[in-house]
Amino acid sequence: MKFEKIAAPKGVSEYAPPDSAAFEWVRQSLIDPAKLAGYQLIELPVFEDTTLFSRGVGESTDVVSKEMYTFEDRGGRSITLRPEGTAGVMRSVIENSLDRGQLPVKVWYSGAFFRAERPQAGRYRQFYQVGVEAIGLDDPAIDAEVIAIADRGFKKIGLKNYRLEITSLGDAKSRAAHRVDLLKFISTLRLDEATAARAAINPLRLFDDKRDEMKQAMEKAPLLMDYLSPESESHFKQVLAYLAALKVDYVLNPRMVRGLDYYTGTTFEFVHSDLGAQSGIGGGGRYDGLMETLGGQNLSGIGFGLGVDRALLAAKAEGLIAKSAFSSDLFLIPLGDKAKGPALSISAQLRELGIVTEIAFGDRALKGAMKAADKSGSRYVIVLGEAELASGQVEIKRMSDGATSSVKISDLSSFAFDK
Ligand code: HAM
Repeated sequence: MKFEKIAAPKGVSEYAPPDSAAFEWVRQSLIDPAKLAGYQLIELPVFEDTTLFSRGVGESTDVVSKEMYTFEDRGGRSITLRPEGTAGVMRSVIENSLDRGQLPVKVWYSGAFFRAERPQAGRYRQFYQVGVEAIGLDDPAIDAEVIAIADRGFKKIGLKNYRLEITSLGDAKSRAAHRVDLLKFISTLRLDEATAARAAINPLRLFDDKRDEMKQAMEKAPLLMDYLSPESESHFKQVLAYLAALKVDYVLNPRMVRGLDYYTGTTFEFVHSDLGAQSGIGGGGRYDGLMETLGGQNLSGIGFGLGVDRALLAAKAEGLIAKSAFSSDLFLIPLGDKAKGPALSISAQLRELGIVTEIAFGDRALKGAMKAADKSGSRYVIVLGEAELASGQVEIKRMSDGATSSVKISDLSSFAFDK
C-alpha cells in the first residue's frame, strides 16, 4: 500500500534548512536590542481563554471578529490560538502580580501567532513575532526607548528602505472630544450596515477602510491629532523630541489605524517600501486602559510586535541575505565500527570548545564519506581508521586547498580550526 503525502496547512510560514539560518539570524537581530535594554524573556502559552482576546483586543477588530482560531477544548471551554502577544502578557503580569513589584515591568517575547487571514505574500495564518512590553509607567522616555529598540533591530539586519510612521491617539479626554465630532461627521455619510456597525463600536476604524469611495469620504473627517488634550500633546511632543535626539527618523501619520483596539497615546508602525500590500514590518503603541479591562490595576503600558517573516522578506528584497552560509568546522569520518566510539568522544570534546563538528554516520565507504564531507561545506576533514587510533595521530585536511597536516588526537583541541 502506498501512502499519500501530507501537505502543511494552507497559509502557514515555515523555515527548513538551509533557509532557516537566515530566519534565525533575523529573529535574533530583532531580539538582541531588547535584551541589551534589560528586557527579560516572557514565555507564554500559545492558546488562551477566548475572552482574553475578545475583551482585550476588541470586538470591532478584524482580528477578533473574523480571524481567530477558536475552538472548544475537551472540557467545553472556549480556547483561542493567540493572534497577538500583548493581551497574554497582560494576563500573565496580572496573574503573577508582576505589577506589584518594580516598575516598569519590561519583557520580551518571540514566537508563533495565529490569524485566519486570506494567505498571500507576507500574510500567513501562522507567523512569527518578536515583541516587547514595558508596563507601569507613563513616561515619554519609555515610548522613545521602545520605538528605538524596534528601530535598532531593523538596523541590525541592515534594512534601509523602511520608515517609522507615528501618531498619537491621545488620552480618554482627547478621544471623547474627537469622537463627538467624528460621529457627527460620519452621520453625514451613507454607510452600509456592516460599516455602520463597525463605526458604532469604533468610529476610528473608518479611516482604515480600503475602498476608494470611503477613502475619499474620510478625507475631510476630523483628525484625532487636532483634538489632543494639553497633557497628551505635551507627552507626544516629548516622545518626538527624544526620537530626534536618538536620531530615529519618523514621519507623522495622523490617519494611522492599528488593527487592535487597545491603543491610546503614542502609536506607531514600521512600513517597508519593497513588500507590496503587506508592508507593515512592525507596529505598536501605548495601551493605557488594557490592564484594567483585563481585571488588573489601572497601569499604563507600551510595546511593539515585529513581524519576523516580513522582516526576513524585507531583508531578502534588500539583498541582505547571502545564500545559506552554514558550514561546520570539522567533518569526522570514522572507518569501521571500532572508530565510531572514539569519533563520538572526540567530537564531544571539540563541541565543548565551540568547534562545530559533524560525524559521517552509517557505514559508507571512504569515497562516499568524502563526498558527504565535500557537500557539507565543512572546512576540515579527518579520517579516523584503525591506523590512526593505533598511532594516536590523524591527518587533518583543509578542504579549501587540500593541504594536510599531521596532528596528535590529544592536541586536536588546540588546533586552529578557524584558519
Ligand atoms: P500587529 O500590528 O497586529 O501588532 O502585528 C505586529 C506585526 O506582526 C505586523 O507589523 C506584521 O509585521 C506582523 N504580522 C501581523 N499579522 C501577520 C500575518 N498574518 N502574517 C505575517 N505577519 C504578520 C500586534 O500584534 C501588537 N500585539 C503589537 C504590540 C505589542 N502593541 C503593543 N505591544
